[in-house]
Amino acid sequence: MTISEDSGNTAPDWLTAAQKHLWLPYTQMKTVAPPLPAAATEGARIILSDGRELVDGIASWWTACHGYNHPHIRTEVEAQLERLPHVMLGGLVTEPAARLAQRLAALTPGDLDHVFFSESGSVSVEIGMKMAIQYWINQGKRGRRKFVCFRYGYHGDTLGTMSVCDPDEGMHTLFRGALLEQFLVDVPRSGDDLHTLDAFLRTHRDEIAAVIIEPLVQGAGGMKFHPPEVLAGIAALCDKHGHLLILDEIFTGFGRTGTMFACQQAGIVPDIMTLSKALTGGTMALAATIARAHIYDAFLSEDEGAALMHGPTFMGNPLACAAANASLDLFAREPRLQAVERIEGHLRTALAPCREIEGVVDVRTLGAIGVIELAAMRDIAWLKQRFIEQGVWLRPFGDIIYTTPPLTITEAELTRITDAMVATTREWAAR
Ligand SMILES: Cc1ncc(COP(=O)(O)O)c(C=O)c1O
Repeated sequence: MTISEDSGNTAPDWLTAAQKHLWLPYTQMKTVAPPLPAAATEGARIILSDGRELVDGIASWWTACHGYNHPHIRTEVEAQLERLPHVMLGGLVTEPAARLAQRLAALTPGDLDHVFFSESGSVSVEIGMKMAIQYWINQGKRGRRKFVCFRYGYHGDTLGTMSVCDPDEGMHTLFRGALLEQFLVDVPRSGDDLHTLDAFLRTHRDEIAAVIIEPLVQGAGGMKFHPPEVLAGIAALCDKHGHLLILDEIFTGFGRTGTMFACQQAGIVPDIMTLSKALTGGTMALAATIARAHIYDAFLSEDEGAALMHGPTFMGNPLACAAANASLDLFAREPRLQAVERIEGHLRTALAPCREIEGVVDVRTLGAIGVIELAAMRDIAWLKQRFIEQGVWLRPFGDIIYTTPPLTITEAELTRITDAMVATTREWAAR
């Protein structure tokens, strides 16, 4: 056993033995405190190997919408594991993948009817970008290969998706110069801004493959919100100039903002939508790129070369599709969207006192997302540690302290999270 600096408690032997072999995400391995050993999960709780329980305020990077270990998902995945854990989707199709494609087509708005599976959010965005570029190539337009993306946007960590992230605010500043160059613009905040975007989209019409945005909430770029009217305005400009619109609903999809998909609040249907994270209820890795009929039709041809040239090895993994089908069952039969309304009300009231705390510049909530924005982040390691001491799992980043709890979280658990956020922000301000 060794002492875990992060927790002040003992780390199990399996962690001590493996520590130098496991390369962790976004982590300076030389100086980082050892991570917390998670031994089990249940509902909205993570149980550490020393028996302590943390209420999860971020649902494992926004995935565990039904909480952990939901019996229905577990049963369906176990049954699928017995029957058929995996076969390639090339030339073979499994019932869970076929059924999930059909259900996603029915669930997503408009004629978003054609579902291409992959295994991570970043890859689904890459596929959406390739779809857009090839949509134009298949119509003889080779020049349309750049993307219009937005400041504070985040779409993934692969090279293609990095190019459509905010180059300064995102996590990819280091790679400047090594990435494809795209058109970066501000999210329009006024009529004047919309006019500017209008002119931009007209001027660059023949170079643009698509406009890509996270609808209503730019998540990893700092939980920045924009109202549905802004999204509707961007969609209207895309229509006006004949540009494709890709909505990345990887974070916002499956109820997080109060509707099943964020774009429904703006009454718009993108040409291409990407989904992942809560797609499997947070159980397995799975993503989907969903295209409208006119996109799909542009790939139909006697020419083999017009087909979409992409095919991840584990695409449509039956275990992951079984988990996703079970997750959709739960959305159909349990009151998840009502739960989001309840969580939103709680977050709005409980976090409001933070507005008075020195060093807090904004407090905002939307659906099951609550954000405290600080004038400047400091003492982030101390903040993380204080949350653990209070039995909650929260990971401040950039200049925000935020929560995106499982949608099944109980009132008592949510109170524990919001109490910790308010108390810790006060302590932080007084330091
Ligand atoms: C909006 C959005 N797009 C894409 C991604 C990348 O997904 P993944 O981490 O599964 O590659 C994320 C991840 O946080 C995201 O929030």
